[in-house]
Amino acid sequence: MPAATLGRTAKSSINSDAQDNAGKIQSTVCNGVLMTTATASIQSGLPPGPKGTLIGGSIRQFRAGLLDFLLNTARDYGPLASFRIGPRRVFLASGPDLIEQVLVTDAKHYIKHFGARAFRPVLGNGLVTSEGAFWRRQRKLVQPAFLKARVASYAPVMAEQTEQLLASWTPGKSVQIDYEFEALTSKIALKTLFNLNDPGDGERFSDTLKLAFDLMNARLRRIFKTPLWVPTPANRCLQRAVAELDRRVQSFIAAGRSRQNSGNDLLSRLLVAQHEDGTGMTDRQLRDEAMTLYLAGHETTALTLTWTWYLLSQHRQVEQKLLTEWEHVLAGSTPTVKQLPRLSYTAAVIAESMRLFPPVYVIGREATVDLELGGYRVKRGYTVLMSQWVNHRDPKYFPSPEEFRPERWEDGLAKRLPKFAYYPFGGGQRICVGADFALMEAAIILATVGQRYRFTLDPDAVIEIKPQITLLPANGIPATLQCR
Ligand code: HEM
Repeated sequence: MPAATLGRTAKSSINSDAQDNAGKIQSTVCNGVLMTTATASIQSGLPPGPKGTLIGGSIRQFRAGLLDFLLNTARDYGPLASFRIGPRRVFLASGPDLIEQVLVTDAKHYIKHFGARAFRPVLGNGLVTSEGAFWRRQRKLVQPAFLKARVASYAPVMAEQTEQLLASWTPGKSVQIDYEFEALTSKIALKTLFNLNDPGDGERFSDTLKLAFDLMNARLRRIFKTPLWVPTPANRCLQRAVAELDRRVQSFIAAGRSRQNSGNDLLSRLLVAQHEDGTGMTDRQLRDEAMTLYLAGHETTALTLTWTWYLLSQHRQVEQKLLTEWEHVLAGSTPTVKQLPRLSYTAAVIAESMRLFPPVYVIGREATVDLELGGYRVKRGYTVLMSQWVNHRDPKYFPSPEEFRPERWEDGLAKRLPKFAYYPFGGGQRICVGADFALMEAAIILATVGQRYRFTLDPDAVIEIKPQITLLPANGIPATLQCR
């Protein structure tokens, strides 16, 4: 992994807290630019950054090694850098105060960037892809299903599905860690979301969704995209996959509606949820939210577990400390919700793993008006990127940032950090709705599996990172199961 030292040349004199004493955001318009701080002044031109080529800008470096490109750009050009990807102007904000300005203070003047919007053909208008008043109404409706107490009721499903996986394993078996945990979190998502009991149904659904996403990813990488209505072989394949997904989710919704009693699955909760005016979600909206929650929810958690097992296989002393904690708190049993707060080292290991391998390693926004950021003008239509990969490696907040040291979280580091020095779940109004769900699931699976098995990495395994929408292992993580 590249060693990282982020330059902190403090080019911006912007007060990160754009609230005045009375708690109101001060916003003024200056030269046609929206200013949300009283002290800000606009510099002419663009923030410093790599020049790139006349036509493509920095597209070649962006594609060849995205993570290094982001890290080096922040290190070389400071908390606000700028570059071009083809015709698109992009700012990279790496100062925590600037990120707060984008995601919190000025959030209403930004929408999700083009990359997120590109997934609408599959996700529809669900929480990840919708905007404005529509998004706000939906978020209000979905959020209660993710309250801590509700989420706690899924713990037995998580434990049960993990036990089932363990029952299918034998010592000495060769596994792909990423595959095993993706399959497990997918089953948990299908059960907690749709109360799906037939594993065949679940597999067909997740295979079709995977296919649709692969096709969308391939489309996103193409510079010239044929409109979706043009019947190219790739477009036709995508349309077939989406139609198949629609059919399946509609059948889950119909089954949910026909159940006499509201079940303990998320879909049942969404079926009875009502807006303030007494209306509920349409079937179309339920389909979009269900698809979004399944997709946003299971791969990210699987990746957290995958990278955690990889790190543990390289740091046996950390694994030993985990075992001591599990022996003391769990004594061989599957963790219950009540026991989770006592698994503090387990939580520290997960936090540290998400610091080094944040499943969502970059998020982006697009400005909807001209506004100010870090003393520069962000024009309407510009993209602002914020990268967890970059921020989580800032030595100012994480000494020896490349070292896997869960102990750094043990003395209240999370409380001392500025808000956006560490943000694996994003922040502001669009913060991950499933953060509690994910953290609980990761802890239950880690402790249940870890008490029984350890993973030994294949000696010839080549571990490389493939940054797509999430941070994937390029060649999988092959390992052998060993009994404790
Ligand atoms: C370790 C696991 C997870 C990570 C790292 C993660 C990360 C994130 C991040 C960074 C965002 C914000 C994206 C942005 O601002 O552009 C987000 C949003 C979201 N996440 Fe997660 N997530 C995880 C698990 C989950 C789970 C388990 C669910 C649901 C079951 C979920 C559902 C969502 C939804 C619906 C949004 C969109 C929220 C909105 O815009 O209102 N996520 N997630």
